[in-house]
Amino acid sequence: MVALLWKLEPATAAKHRLYKRYLDAWWPIMLQPNHTGYRRPRVTYVDAFAGPGRYEDGEDGSPVFAIERLLTHSAVGRMNLSRDRVTMLFIERDTARWRYLRELVVSRFGPLERLPVRVEIRNADAGVDTEGMLTELDAWRAPILAVFDSWGNVNVPYDLVRRIAGVRSSEVITTFGPNWFSRRETLNTDLLDVVFGGRSFWQPADREQRPDERWRTWLDTYRSALARAGFAFQLQFEVVPHTGQPLYLVFGTGSEKGVEVMKDAMWNVDGDGGMSFRDPRTRGGVPDGQLDLFAEIQQTDELTELLTQRLHEGRATVHELGGWLLCETARWRRTHARAAVTAMRDAGLVALTPHGRITKQALVELHPSRRARRDPR
Ligand SMILES: C[S@@+](CC[C@H](N)C(=O)[O-])C[C@H]1O[C@@H](n2cnc3c(N)ncnc32)[C@H](O)[C@@H]1O
Repeated sequence: MVALLWKLEPATAAKHRLYKRYLDAWWPIMLQPNHTGYRRPRVTYVDAFAGPGRYEDGEDGSPVFAIERLLTHSAVGRMNLSRDRVTMLFIERDTARWRYLRELVVSRFGPLERLPVRVEIRNADAGVDTEGMLTELDAWRAPILAVFDSWGNVNVPYDLVRRIAGVRSSEVITTFGPNWFSRRETLNTDLLDVVFGGRSFWQPADREQRPDERWRTWLDTYRSALARAGFAFQLQFEVVPHTGQPLYLVFGTGSEKGVEVMKDAMWNVDGDGGMSFRDPRTRGGVPDGQLDLFAEIQQTDELTELLTQRLHEGRATVHELGGWLLCETARWRRTHARAAVTAMRDAGLVALTPHGRITKQALVELHPSRRARRDPR
């Protein structure tokens, strides 16, 4: 029998810190008039794998802290909360957990019908029922933030994600537990077709045999699915707790602002309680074929590694590198480009045109000797 409540794992606690920061920033932005291009902003927040709202040792689950942080937000006075502007939908399939969650929310916040925002707690299946519930709640005409936080079996249909991506200013956050990648063999192929939008999209990932690369490949495959679904920007990263198993998160958004807000949240909690975020592109400091290069610099940090990978594809201005860091890497921001280029120039890794001051338009390329080393001819 599955337990009603379970212990809060360090990776989940780390993810919760990130969600809290993200939501704290997201609500006032989304409810600000005109920000999203909607004259009278309305939003729907969906936690489709809600859980019982509480962990074994009393910590709050995601539905409880999401409601609490909205209702006690420091900007609550400016957000004009109302039941027709804000809907929070929580879906839990397990009936005992759903019942527990409903009772807990009522005991913490009072009767749902008296709350200043609409809170729906449904006993249903996230994969099958989310779309219909969003229709019933008239959610498709305004931004939706959907969190798909299942354990092992992400069964969220691609068509649902695509429909959400089609609503301006909407976003999704999908998490994968480490078991998802190792237990992949036991997952039903028809279900994978539904999640990735067709067999041809996930089969190449399934052919990856190297155990260390499997999770990277599957994560990348999911990231591509979000891109195909219509999210202009996607971030994928590993949430590394101070102890225990990591978990993996893929975020899709239509706006650069969304990426910035997520990265701000990451920087705000990075290091908290020993947690960190890792870019799946990096393999502990040294990309293939570049051992000699990295052996020579003192700090083989992730940022240098990523920029080197990018510059192997061709030269770019400092400004372009900033945009690439923001939109293509898991946690680096625009502002990191200039400092990184300065350090790489000082270490003799890159050359700049023109020489001298590093401006936005300065062209950066790998030092010719470094480029030659990667090319075995
Ligand atoms: C990882 S837990 C959620 C944790 C919660 N979001 C939090 O952060 O506190 C996943 C939950 O999803 C529920 N669940 C599993 N499959 C589901 C489905 N198809 N639809 C809805 N809920 C489901 C499980 O019963 C479990 O309570």
